[in-house]
Amino acid sequence: MSKLANPAFKPELVTVDDAAALARAAVQEFCRCAQEAFVSHGRFCVALSGGNTPRAVNSLLATEYVDLAWDKVFIFFGDERNVPPDHPDSNYRMASETLLSRVPLPQRNVFRVNAELPASAAADDYDRQLREFFGVQSGAWPRFDLILLGMGEDGHTASLFPGSAALQEQSRMVVANWVEKFHSYRITFTFPVLNHAAEVLFLVSGEGKSRVLRGILDRAPTDAGYPAAKVRPQDGRLLWIVDKAAAQLL
Ligand code: 6PG
Repeated sequence: MSKLANPAFKPELVTVDDAAALARAAVQEFCRCAQEAFVSHGRFCVALSGGNTPRAVNSLLATEYVDLAWDKVFIFFGDERNVPPDHPDSNYRMASETLLSRVPLPQRNVFRVNAELPASAAADDYDRQLREFFGVQSGAWPRFDLILLGMGEDGHTASLFPGSAALQEQSRMVVANWVEKFHSYRITFTFPVLNHAAEVLFLVSGEGKSRVLRGILDRAPTDAGYPAAKVRPQDGRLLWIVDKAAAQLL
C-alpha cells in the first residue's frame, strides 16, 4: 500500500524554539541529506523553496557550509513566479542573493526555471530540463534527494494552492498554475514529483500557520482541504521542522 493511501503513515515532526533555531535545524538536515547522497550516488539533487522562511536557511548554509562539496550539489526550484530572474518576486533571485552567489557552486549545477517565458512555455521548458537531467521518460518520475517546502497560511505548498488546477495534475512534472488570489500564473512541481522524493522537508514558522498545521498534522493527513497535506512521499521520508509559534496548537 502506498503511503498516499496508508492512514498509518506518520510524518516526522521536530519542534524548535524559534526561526533562528529552525534555520539551524534545517541546515543540519540539508547537510545530512547531502552527505548521505554523496555516499549513495555521488551527487545531491535538491529543490529549493521560495518565500521568506528559506532566506535564513540559505544564508546560514552560505556562511557555515561554504566547504560542502558544492560541485556535487545540483540545485532546482520547486516553484517559481512568472517573472524574470532579476525581479524582486523571483525565487531564483532570492536563492541567488542568499546562497547561490555565495558558495563555490558551478553555474551549470543550477537549473533555473526560465520564468521570463510565458508561464506554459516556462513549465514545458522546466519539465524538459528535469527529464533530461534525470533521464526519465514519460510516466517515470525524477527522484530528488531532498525537496524543501514551505507552507502558506492557506495550506498551500510550492505553488499548489487550494482550489487551483495543478492539484489534480498526475502526469506532468511541472505545470503553469493560475493562482486567483495573486491573479497571476506560477510554475510549480506537481504532487507526483513531490511524492517521489527520497525526502521532503517542510519548514514552517510563525503563529499564523498554527491552525493549518494542526489541521494537517493532527487530523487524518488525507485531509483534502490543504494541499500541503497531500505531500506524502511514497517511498521516502517526510519531515516537518516547525517553530513553537507554529506548533502551539499541536
Ligand atoms: C513561494 C513558495 C511558497 C512558500 C509559502 C510559505 O514561491 O512563495 O514556494 O510555497 O513556501 O508561501 O512562504 P513563507 O516561508 O514566506 O511563509
